[in-house]
Amino acid sequence: MVYIAGIPDPLLARTMIADRIKNVKDSGTMKMKEIAGQKKAEGKKIISFTVGEPDFDTPKHIVEAAKKALDEGKTRYLDAPGLPALREAIAKRSKDGSGIPCDASNVLVTPTKQAIFETIMATVNPGEEVIMPDPAWVTYEPCVALAGGKAVPATTREESEFRLLPETVAELITPKTKMILINSPSNPCGSVATKADIKGLADLAKDHDLVVLSDEVYENIMFDGLKHYSIAAEPGMFDRTITVNGFSKTYAMTGWRLGWLVAPKPLFKAVNKVQQHSITHATTFAQYGGLAALTGPQDCVKEMVKEFSERRDLVMRLMKEIPQLHCDKPKGAFYVFPRYESKMDSEAMALYLMDKAEVALTGGASFGGAGAQHLRISYATNKKNIEEGMTRLKKAFEGM
Ligand SMILES: Cc1ncc(COP(=O)(O)O)c(C=O)c1O
Repeated sequence: MVYIAGIPDPLLARTMIADRIKNVKDSGTMKMKEIAGQKKAEGKKIISFTVGEPDFDTPKHIVEAAKKALDEGKTRYLDAPGLPALREAIAKRSKDGSGIPCDASNVLVTPTKQAIFETIMATVNPGEEVIMPDPAWVTYEPCVALAGGKAVPATTREESEFRLLPETVAELITPKTKMILINSPSNPCGSVATKADIKGLADLAKDHDLVVLSDEVYENIMFDGLKHYSIAAEPGMFDRTITVNGFSKTYAMTGWRLGWLVAPKPLFKAVNKVQQHSITHATTFAQYGGLAALTGPQDCVKEMVKEFSERRDLVMRLMKEIPQLHCDKPKGAFYVFPRYESKMDSEAMALYLMDKAEVALTGGASFGGAGAQHLRISYATNKKNIEEGMTRLKKAFEGM
């Protein structure tokens, strides 16, 4: 490396970095989280609505199971797909709970984000297109870019609850389309696919011979008695669908880095190769915690979902008092995605609110072009913070 006055030569530094990384954007949610962290370090009392992380502790029986595993020396390598008992438990849950016709041999234990990365690396060729919702979670597009593929945004709209509509997807299918990526309940909009949406998307995948990646990580965080539909359970869909899911959101286990995917055999084998040559397997003792989560009492999940539902209602009630924000009640996950009235772009608006209201949230454009003029508020924080944060937002909008 050549240094000019102690600083690395930027041209040389550029040549060291692979082109595939140069095209990858930094995460908008992480950026706002970092800025909020700096402000907090400066002594500012920032209320954070940025990160999609439950604020609850991991339930005790899950922690105890992982501790016990450590005490018993469960600290060695496993086979890449994961702990057999955990794979069994995931298969049972996927089959009995979601109707996915799988068994343990279809299950790969891996962090959810890794599951998405591995799926895309194992299926998408350079130049192939992946249709995904717009707005969408910030990580999908970079994963497709890393594989050399092209993300094709399918605009979702406020009028149709930000659901990914089959008719929108149909218009985007080309000979290069390889995959449809779906996410219900969704980040950042909290939208939930209807049975008709799932059926329509399944028909498109079958008619055009496409792979489906279904991210169901918020499956359990749904409100008002709504039902979740897994596309892999639709007739003829299991053979072309990889379903990803995980422990982070349902059991407040974000730091455990644990989730799973369920795939038909040929896709499973391909994805498992990426796993073998990247992370080998998910952390051994964490998998014992995961096993306790799935096989132990589920009251903890019910309690957390009830709390999220109350928080959603609280955010919605407080938002009604801010005339510059507009949003219908989301049906799942723990986000609201209001449209705001202002000429400012969404990043500038998020920075303005950080400055004026000392509230950290994410500009909607971080999630895609259709997120412009929106803000994402994560309500995975306690009610006191929600009340304080929304009151500050009200004042900041009044002062504009
Ligand atoms: C839609 C969606 N999918 C996947 C993930 C990744 O989950 P994990 O942190 O368990 O890897 C997230 C995390 O925020 C998410 O919002």
